[in-house]
Amino acid sequence: MGAAADGDAYWELPIPAQGDAPAEAVDLTKSLNPGACGLCHLRQYREWRSSLHARAVGPGLLGQLPYMDIDDAEYCLTCHAPRAEQQARILTEPDAPQPEPAIPELSLLPRAPPEPGGVDCAGCHVRAHRRHGPEHKPLTPHGPVTGLALFEASDFCAPCHQFPPGTGELLGTPLQDTHREWAASRHAAAGIGCQDCHMPGGSHTFRGIHDPETTRRALRIDLTRTAQGIRLRVSNTGAGHAVPTYATPRVRLQVRSVQDPMHQVEHIIQRTLALDPDQGLVQQSDTRLFPDQSVTLDLRLTPAETGTARILVEPDAYYHAVAYPALLAELPEDAHHQRRQLRQAQADSGTSAYVLFEGDCGVWSGQQARCRLREGGLGPTTDAASRVDR
Ligand code: HEC
Ligand code: HEC
Ligand code: HEC
Ligand code: HEC
Ligand code: HEC
Repeated sequence: MGAAADGDAYWELPIPAQGDAPAEAVDLTKSLNPGACGLCHLRQYREWRSSLHARAVGPGLLGQLPYMDIDDAEYCLTCHAPRAEQQARILTEPDAPQPEPAIPELSLLPRAPPEPGGVDCAGCHVRAHRRHGPEHKPLTPHGPVTGLALFEASDFCAPCHQFPPGTGELLGTPLQDTHREWAASRHAAAGIGCQDCHMPGGSHTFRGIHDPETTRRALRIDLTRTAQGIRLRVSNTGAGHAVPTYATPRVRLQVRSVQDPMHQVEHIIQRTLALDPDQGLVQQSDTRLFPDQSVTLDLRLTPAETGTARILVEPDAYYHAVAYPALLAELPEDAHHQRRQLRQAQADSGTSAYVLFEGDCGVWSGQQARCRLREGGLGPTTDAASRVDR
């Protein structure tokens, strides 16, 4: 059976309730709580805890669910909390205090996560209480582990990172199209899949655009002082899909004169969406960099002028500027709890911005020269970043 066929059977969503653990299983292996897996798989647990998969049930999602009909809410949870047990808990008692994990709190573990834990260990590895992984292992404390080639294939990630063609499309392109972008890239042709870049050495951190170091790996930057001024060229050489692959982040390229800061150019890399009162979600433009595409930005300067360049990444720009403000505006007056959740999400989404690179170019020296580039720091927040240039 090929990995794709495996995937259809393995990724029945929602993942059916697992039922009772086999009677012969030892207590520690009966729990599906990630903290329980973490007692024996400490490295994977620590890494996963730091990932966005562990935080996929956050205030931005929870603040919306009560105002959706049940079908829509279940649809959202297919990717954000894929197990039937998680969904039952979230949909029937969203505000219930999260139960303590069914395992003792050990000092060597980071604090156990509150259930339901988002995209968790069991969601990816356990079906009907049986563990699945990249290799068959006949003898473990939780019985034999079933080996599936699917675990090393990009198809494994597709159920949640690719809308089926024909669904959720804007101008003919699904809102989430990551697997198809990848399949058309040179990386796919070379046999480099999602796991090779996002789980190097079996890592479970799943870093993406929220992590500056990962984003730096995606882009080649050439910043040059030419006779006419400054040229900034940015190429997607290292991501196996568009940069960014989603419509929610924004990447801003900015070049300006030091002597005259009003003299500046900006280019925005983003699939830009807006909420139209009549048509709902509409696409305004798509300037993302697909694999091996480049963009060039020129600023004219006199030979005596100097300039600076900067690349700013706002991973949650759409949520911050469009989605959360619209949701907050629609909330009924008495929805105090949801308002708090969405305000929290709104605030969080404004703090994820970072400067990817900054560079300085000197006066024209008589010959073309590369300018000095350095890695930027954290912040400014999306709000501050937007103010800088408006
Ligand atoms: C009591 C300790 C213990 C607990 C609890 C436990 N495991 Fe394991 N697990 C093991 C051991 C030991 C192995 C075998 C490791 C080996 O052979 O390299 C294993 C193997 C695995 C494998 C296959 C690893 C490989 O190298 O291919 C997976 C996947 C896995 N466990 C997932 C889980 C998940 C998910 C949970 C929680 C729902 C869990 N385990 C809970 C001890 C445990
Ligand atoms: C988003 C899906 C996903 C989640 C969540 C996830 N894993 Fe994995 N895990 C994988 C994939 C895919 C592999 C195979 C990676 C490879 O071979 O390149 C893997 C591999 C493993 C292995 C085999 C050894 C290794 O590191 O390659 C173990 C053990 C494991 N995972 C345990 C866990 C535990 C414990 C958790 C929760 C703390 C967890 N996983 C969460 C997808 C996931
Ligand atoms: C096909 C899988 C899928 C479905 C269905 C889905 N999401 Fe997501 N969602 C994602 C992925 C992947 C991300 C991360 C990428 C991004 O930022 O867009 C995400 C990000 C988010 C975020 C921002 C991060 C966070 O957790 O705060 C929110 C909020 C969110 N989704 C809410 C929803 C809501 C509400 C629905 C239902 C209308 C929904 N999602 C349906 C996959 C999905
Ligand atoms: C069950 C659904 C599901 C599966 C399977 C899944 N993901 Fe995700 N993934 C999500 C959701 C939902 C988010 C967004 C979490 C959030 O921010 O709320 C996400 C976020 C991410 C991010 C973080 C992106 C960022 O903005 O920085 C990366 C990277 C990622 N996933 C890679 C993978 C890879 C690689 C695989 C396959 C090994 C995979 N995912 C499998 C649902 C899934
Ligand atoms: C050749 C390496 C490579 C491959 C292959 C790859 N990625 Fe990425 N991915 C990256 C880099 C680098 C980033 C950070 C820059 C960016 O956001 O594009 C990233 C970012 C992401 C993000 C963050 C969200 C966003 O809007 O960019 C998600 C989600 C993601 N990848 C999922 C996947 C999935 C799913 C696959 C497989 C279908 C995959 N990636 C294949 C390198 C890769």
